[in-house]
Amino acid sequence: MPHSIQVDLSRSGCQENSLSNKDCSLADDLKNAHQQVCSLDLELMARGEIPDDQKPLDGNFYPLPDKILSEYRTDRNESELGKILKTANRLQSSVEAIVVLGIGGSYMGTRALMDACCEPYYNELSKAERGGRPQLYFAGNHLDNDALQGVLGRLRAVTPEGNWGIIVISKSGETLETAVAFRTLLDLLKQQCPQDLPNFVVPITGETGSLNRMAAELGCTSVFRVPEGVGGRFSLFSAVGLLPAATIGLDVVQLLQGAVDMNETFRTAELSSNPPLDFALTAYQLQLQGDVSIRVLSVWEQAFASLGMWYDQLLSESLGKDGQGMTPITMVNTRDLHSRAQQHQAGRNDKWIVNLSTRQSHADQLQIRESTSDVAGLNDLTGVTLAELSAAARQGTNRALCDVQRPTADIVLEQGDEYELGQFFQMMMLATVVEGKLLGVNPYGQPGVEAYKKHMRNILLSARR
Ligand code: PA5
Repeated sequence: MPHSIQVDLSRSGCQENSLSNKDCSLADDLKNAHQQVCSLDLELMARGEIPDDQKPLDGNFYPLPDKILSEYRTDRNESELGKILKTANRLQSSVEAIVVLGIGGSYMGTRALMDACCEPYYNELSKAERGGRPQLYFAGNHLDNDALQGVLGRLRAVTPEGNWGIIVISKSGETLETAVAFRTLLDLLKQQCPQDLPNFVVPITGETGSLNRMAAELGCTSVFRVPEGVGGRFSLFSAVGLLPAATIGLDVVQLLQGAVDMNETFRTAELSSNPPLDFALTAYQLQLQGDVSIRVLSVWEQAFASLGMWYDQLLSESLGKDGQGMTPITMVNTRDLHSRAQQHQAGRNDKWIVNLSTRQSHADQLQIRESTSDVAGLNDLTGVTLAELSAAARQGTNRALCDVQRPTADIVLEQGDEYELGQFFQMMMLATVVEGKLLGVNPYGQPGVEAYKKHMRNILLSARR
């Protein structure tokens, strides 16, 4: 029986302002935003009549999971997902390791999925322990010489005969970090096994851009598209996230089903049981009410640190525009209780702390055993499990913040499986877009990112003169 994620916003400090007794303009704004995401934006896109002040309009992320899954259920071979699964199987049976190249939206979601769903030391497991699946490395998300050399070193060590593959992801096909890593890794693969390049390199890219040309030159057996009208950070439910996830054995059908079910809730549920709408409204109200300008995603599993990184990007690039948008921060607990909690408790009251946790652990429960030396007086807690300690830390932190009127919220997953993660990803994407519409900010595109690139180019060119 699949679980629905639970979202509790009751300690956010704005639930008393719920729309039943709040001024109607907010209710109207919310209704308009909802309608835009559910239908109006998609109609504009379909007619090709996007007004200039709404460009870019990348609303196709919303119907994407429904489309991918229903096409797959109609045709398991020729549908996009059918082809993704076939390619994943082919890679699984032919390579020992895969390097996923990509940055931003072409990286974060896959990384978040892997870290949330796989064993913490997945790449160090034996092949049998990995279910015969390849190791998965990431590159193309930095310009760090030693980190890229590190990946090259791992590949030479793991598979000296060149039995490894590349999934290169870039919607534009032009992103510097990804292109540099691709060129470097391709050189190694060409030296090691030139005959296998067409099968071992899988590009995922947009309709245009030089990665397409490269794919044709290499004669790649499989090439996938980032769908039109879907922005990079919203592209997890396309081949961008689905192919790498399928190669390491994640249940991508359940992942998509979670997103589809979240869409259905978003389309039909009342505000009080509609997590994306409720979350967006709460975030918006906190900004309207005054000082809250920092949103802390406070994760209670080590495995969710990268989910935080994914959400940091989603919030920053979508809403950090026109002098608006909360600043996202990820806090990994309980590690960061020993670094950030002081400030959250007693520093500026400008934060909304959103906890993300799971009820169940994946591995067997460890518990405190009695010890004759009794270091730190732990014998009083004999028999208490780590999960119970973590839950007590979370509840204690919430209570302490509540005591000083600092807003918190809880997103609780039952076990953090693919189905629930699908719900979570889609909920956060929908909530972000609705929040953008409430703020009057276009949640799509990231024009601000271009500024540093212009300077960087000039610096490089003037250094070569
Ligand atoms: O959300 C976005 O669109 C960006 O973060 C991009 O994903 C990122 O810049 C990478 O771009 P590309 O996929 O074109 O290489």
